[in-house]
Amino acid sequence: MSQADDRMRPYRSVLYIPGARERALEKAQSLPADAIIFDLEDAVAADEKEGARALLSRVLAEADYGARARIVRVNGLDTPWGAEDVRAFRGAGIDALLIPKVGSAADVEAVAALIPDVPVWAMMETPAGMLNAASIAAHPRLAGMVMGTNDLAKELNTRFRADRMPLLTGLQLCLLAARAHGLIAIDGVYNAFKDDEGLRAECKQGRDMGFDGKTVIHPAQVAIANEEFSPSETEVDLARRQIEAFDAARRDGQGVAVLDGKIVENLHAATARQILARAEAIRAEAIADRAI
Ligand code: COA
Ligand code: MG
Repeated sequence: MSQADDRMRPYRSVLYIPGARERALEKAQSLPADAIIFDLEDAVAADEKEGARALLSRVLAEADYGARARIVRVNGLDTPWGAEDVRAFRGAGIDALLIPKVGSAADVEAVAALIPDVPVWAMMETPAGMLNAASIAAHPRLAGMVMGTNDLAKELNTRFRADRMPLLTGLQLCLLAARAHGLIAIDGVYNAFKDDEGLRAECKQGRDMGFDGKTVIHPAQVAIANEEFSPSETEVDLARRQIEAFDAARRDGQGVAVLDGKIVENLHAATARQILARAEAIRAEAIADRAI
């Protein structure tokens, strides 16, 4: 899939699965997540690392995850497992390899050099990562950024706040960097996996900011992320009417239309087309999934 196509692929819900949890690996084949992060890093204990790598290699070769993007999060190259993790997924046909705790473009380069055939994604979760977001995003092999808000909060010594005020600068630096280079940008997790309303509020905030989707940790969080990161019926309806109004204005020789008391310029029509394309990509994914 080309990078341009990948920008349209839905990433509303991106589910973490600990690489050693066989039951969860199996269950994910039927969960409606748009993407899965198969984790070998922090969700796997040190004495399970080798076993999890072997299990994941086998599962990814044999199991059918349908339209879901398959992303493997490896251990850092500064650990005893990192280099072997990366090598294990060469030629495995995964959609991306996710590097933890990326601090600079050199961290991306070191992994990219080991695996020439797979798009690379970066966990953005350290103070250095936030400050270097622009040069990290500029790396030619980088295709996506995932916010690691738990690690970032730990490093910054922030307290949890429902409005995420202490994290907003970091989130926005990464979004700016990702958008400047046409990358996918996924928001961090919401830890309280039984608090649906808290999750919904955080999804809305992430969507308002411009993220493509949210990482989630539990199956119960998937539907809420999908809903909040899908274009709503109101948005789709407005997009259709904006395009109609703009096209009509064009036919009349005007460069600007007015709809519901607001101007519609070329850029609004372009955003409207993007909303329709996104809604269509989500619909196509749902159909592909039912056909399996
Ligand atoms: N992916 C897929 N399936 C999952 C899952 C996940 N992340 N988390 C739980 N499940 C499955 C369980 O296997 C169980 O399936 P079953 O009833 O069909 O056997 C079902 O969902 C219900 O699980 P539940 O009992 O509510 O959760 P739990 O107590 O077993 O686990 C967590 C709770 C938080 C420990 C678990 O969800 C988890 O490990 N999440 C991922 C954490 C992670 O990867 N963190 C790293 C990045 S932040
Ligand atoms: Mg982390």
